[in-house]
Amino acid sequence: MIGGFLLSYKDESVAVELDDVWFGYDSEPVLQGISFKIKKGSKVAIIGENGAGKTTLLRCLIGIIRPTKGNIIINGEDSKKSSVAEIARKVGIVFQNPDYQLFSKTVSEELAFGPRNIGVPEEFIPEKVHSALEALNILKYAENSPFLLSEGERRRVAIASILTMNSIIICFDEPTLGQDSYAKTRFSELLSNLSSQGKTIIVVSHDVDFVSENIPWAIVLSRGQIKAKGPTKEILTDTKLMDECGLGTPPTVEFALHYRKFDKNFPKTIIREKEVLEYFLHQKNQK
Ligand SMILES: Nc1ncnc2c1ncn2[C@@H]1O[C@H](COP(=O)(O)OP(=O)(O)OP(=O)(O)O)[C@@H](O)[C@H]1O
Ligand SMILES: [Mg+2]
Repeated sequence: MIGGFLLSYKDESVAVELDDVWFGYDSEPVLQGISFKIKKGSKVAIIGENGAGKTTLLRCLIGIIRPTKGNIIINGEDSKKSSVAEIARKVGIVFQNPDYQLFSKTVSEELAFGPRNIGVPEEFIPEKVHSALEALNILKYAENSPFLLSEGERRRVAIASILTMNSIIICFDEPTLGQDSYAKTRFSELLSNLSSQGKTIIVVSHDVDFVSENIPWAIVLSRGQIKAKGPTKEILTDTKLMDECGLGTPPTVEFALHYRKFDKNFPKTIIREKEVLEYFLHQKNQK
């Protein structure tokens, strides 16, 4: 086993396994032989250029589209044998566009729908709804229509509605889009909290800062194929890989490349602006 990824077969600690998964909406394949295993309780990012196939991959994972070839194993079970509803009990998803997900008259009703739909007894639902509202800081909107909220708030409602389902695997498609820094901090606390409960987290994101700080493992998808997987910091600082996959070099990594000509001790693992500042402050205090 290497970190969030697993190498051995039929391992009980595997949450999700994709084995040579292919899919195309028409004759053109979008996913071309995707294989990976994700360990239970780990946090993994899927990054890649627009159109790489990230959302398609998540759709396959939750069973709303089915691979034309290959297998998806969730918690040891072949998902071919499971209905969408059965998969939904195990895997929750917060879609890239929250509006695809919201339909109820009030935020509270939205959050109650999922658990009610999978047969959670009515007496347990208010508590689940309340704690999800609190976790996403949207308690004050409980009786509002989700459609009258801002985009960032609607995304938080969509996230909260997944929390009430208590899924063991949770996928987020671009969760930090439109979120201010306070909301991002709350979301990163939420991810840690879910992780400490043993949930497996899969985050599709273009937010390099967020991914580098919060998600230790990353998979790079480009034109429907996996180009790399490994520790997030190693992936994001691999300028050749990032360029080849159309992701570009994060600005701080670009800065580090140039600055290292003057200071060869400047750490290769620095990705975030905050880390650059901390490095310089540390250097200054040493003098
Ligand atoms: N419902 C659909 N019908 C036909 N083609 C689709 C459909 N959804 C996506 N595609 C195509 O499949 C490819 C992969 O799309 P996908 O949405 O998975 O990419 P993505 O990596 O999530 O991109 P983004 O970063 O822009 O969200 C694209 O070429 C897209 O045009
Ligand atoms: Mg997408």
